[in-house]
Amino acid sequence: MKKALITGITGQDGAYLAQLLLGKGYAVHGLVRRSSTTDMNDVRLRWLGIVDDVQMVDGDLADLSSLMRIVRDLQPDEVYNLAAQSFVKTSWQQPLLTGAITGLGCANVLEAVRIEKPDAHFYQASSSEMYGLIQEPLQSETTPFYPRSPYAAAKLYAHWMTVNYRESFGMHASSGILFNHESPLRGIEFVTRKVTDGVARIKLGVSRELRLGNIDAKRDWGHARDYVKAMWLMLQQERADDYVVATGRTVTVRDMCRIAFEHCGLAMDDHLVVDPALFRPAEVDLLLGNAAKAKARLGWEAETSLEEMIQEMVDADLNRISANR
Ligand code: NAP
Ligand code: GDD
Repeated sequence: MKKALITGITGQDGAYLAQLLLGKGYAVHGLVRRSSTTDMNDVRLRWLGIVDDVQMVDGDLADLSSLMRIVRDLQPDEVYNLAAQSFVKTSWQQPLLTGAITGLGCANVLEAVRIEKPDAHFYQASSSEMYGLIQEPLQSETTPFYPRSPYAAAKLYAHWMTVNYRESFGMHASSGILFNHESPLRGIEFVTRKVTDGVARIKLGVSRELRLGNIDAKRDWGHARDYVKAMWLMLQQERADDYVVATGRTVTVRDMCRIAFEHCGLAMDDHLVVDPALFRPAEVDLLLGNAAKAKARLGWEAETSLEEMIQEMVDADLNRISANR
């Protein structure tokens, strides 16, 4: 039985990846940081019905000795580094923490693997946010990066450390440059989930308006359930490499929002308020990924359309809000 260690297992991607690996017969271990509300942090694993099937281990991305102990004791075949301070807007308010966890945290995991289990296959959760002020209209593995947030700068450091450990130490270390991916398990602060939750509340009469920031921003949105398959595929290859994972379609926040309102039979213009206070200090205006390499080498393609995903998310939020009333 193969053993996998997932950092960030309590997050959106960690939960879907754990589900995928359990289905493939892996023993799945997840790094969990200590919290005073332990009953809250496994909510996504409970939602997927897998909380009793994964083994949790205590540790923190900032604490190298805990990572070394875990990797030494576990001797995992595969290590997926998904943990991060992942909300871009917060990275301007907490730039040093974001650098310490999202950037240096990756170096800590790489060090733990290099010292304790150097033949483990390693995955780094890199991000399309690294393209920032885009240098090419369609972004691929060869497009130059131009980070526009402390989060993106931290991810860029982690990305290059992953490449460096592959080239310096011969580690099987891959970096997945994933474009935005969402699901009913998405954190409420991210725009798709804020929209689907907000629209569901309006539909159920719990609120009347939805306040957003820059609705002209364009993103290439896919489904997290599809994207974790690409992570796994990268670690099954004979040689480690870097891959863009994207749908190849870009849509404005405004049009994504319209899909959610229309699914509920509501007119968006009656409820949507643009609030300049929600704009960011620097914006990533457009992301559009070219996943041709992932398709050719991994046989991976996005399976879920934006419409299908937003409808699934709205329905999940309608159920959640109704159940809590
Ligand atoms: P998420 O839902 O925000 O999950 C982040 C995870 O990191 C949570 O499990 C969190 O634990 C954990 N974490 C945070 N700080 C930690 C620390 N100091 N030590 C240990 N664990 C810590 O993020 P996601 O959407 O699943 O994304 C997964 C990864 O992919 C992230 O690295 C993200 O930056 C990257 N990424 C995401 C996307 C996307 O569109 N979703 C695209 C590209 C890249 P708690 O539950 O305790 O908070
Ligand atoms: N969160 C949020 N809230 N975003 C808003 C809002 C709002 O009220 N109004 C407009 N937006 C715009 C943001 O300005 C941004 O242009 C876009 O919606 C998407 O914002 P998020 O959903 O917060 O995601 P992100 O693109 O900043 O970052 C996500 O994707 C990255 C990959 O490109 C995160 O998952 C990152 O962790 C990930 O790396």
